[in-house]
Amino acid sequence: MPSLPPTVSGPPGQVPAPTMLPLRIDRCPTGIEALDAILDGGIPRGNMVLVSGSVGTGKTTLSLEFLIRGAERGERSLFLSVTEAKDKLVQNLSSFEFFRRELLEDGSLVMVDLPVVTAKLGFDRDELTHEDMELLLRTIHDLVQTLGIRRMVLDSITSLGYRIARDEQIRDFLLRLGEMLSEANCTSLIVSEISPERGRYSTRGVEEAIVDGIILLHNTQRLGDILRVLQVVKMRGTAHSRALYVLELTPIGILLAPHLKGGRASLE
Ligand SMILES: Nc1ncnc2c1ncn2[C@@H]1O[C@H](COP(=O)(O)OP(=O)(O)OP(=O)(O)O)[C@@H](O)[C@H]1O
Ligand SMILES: [Mg+2]
Repeated sequence: MPSLPPTVSGPPGQVPAPTMLPLRIDRCPTGIEALDAILDGGIPRGNMVLVSGSVGTGKTTLSLEFLIRGAERGERSLFLSVTEAKDKLVQNLSSFEFFRRELLEDGSLVMVDLPVVTAKLGFDRDELTHEDMELLLRTIHDLVQTLGIRRMVLDSITSLGYRIARDEQIRDFLLRLGEMLSEANCTSLIVSEISPERGRYSTRGVEEAIVDGIILLHNTQRLGDILRVLQVVKMRGTAHSRALYVLELTPIGILLAPHLKGGRASLE
């Protein structure tokens, strides 16, 4: 009778530990090198991430760089603008070296003024009804599906929220938007405008529990200078640092450097 090949090593009677293969998750690199290093390669694909910060902290620039870097990799990207007109955004983008107008012309980067869309859909009242929200979700869904969108930004949920009366409606909208985008394998950033007080990542306070991740931007005063600072507060599905990084908006894009400790700093 042939003998069985030895399969188990170690003391008899002891069950061997299973081989631990690293679980590979598909990531969406933001294209902002230092941020990808913090995120161990990028945002887990299909995640919905809140980019939260007070005025002028770089939320729109970071979101647009994420889309443009994606478009350059062949991932079609969609920017839904609630506050700023797309023509003005494109004009501002011209000062960044990473932006090429051809991305707009060949449809790799799609920019949509949401107020124009809602006007076309016939939302004539300031306050959006349940039916309006349904129609808006369906419109975004159709855009994502027909154009094959892999990265999306909504700038901002705060501005859209001014037209949504109840917190439950915002929660429901974001939950369903997140589900829909995740099914489409589309990674998204949702911009949230916050006032300088700390401890909250959105105006209404419902968004932070629903999203998969939070990237917080704020201003900090140090030795007479105002610095922009970035912190990854949460990111489901990946290990990451929660340290503060100083953020610089430069013509070649966003740069991050470790925020040196010491001195007196006050966050805004
Ligand atoms: N090309 C550029 N180079 C360097 N800095 C820039 C450039 N464009 C904008 N900025 C700086 O970035 C700031 C605002 O950036 P951005 O619009 O991304 O911030 P935001 O957080 O979206 O602001 P808001 O709250 O007004 O929407 C500007 O006030 C300006 O100081
Ligand atoms: Mg902005």
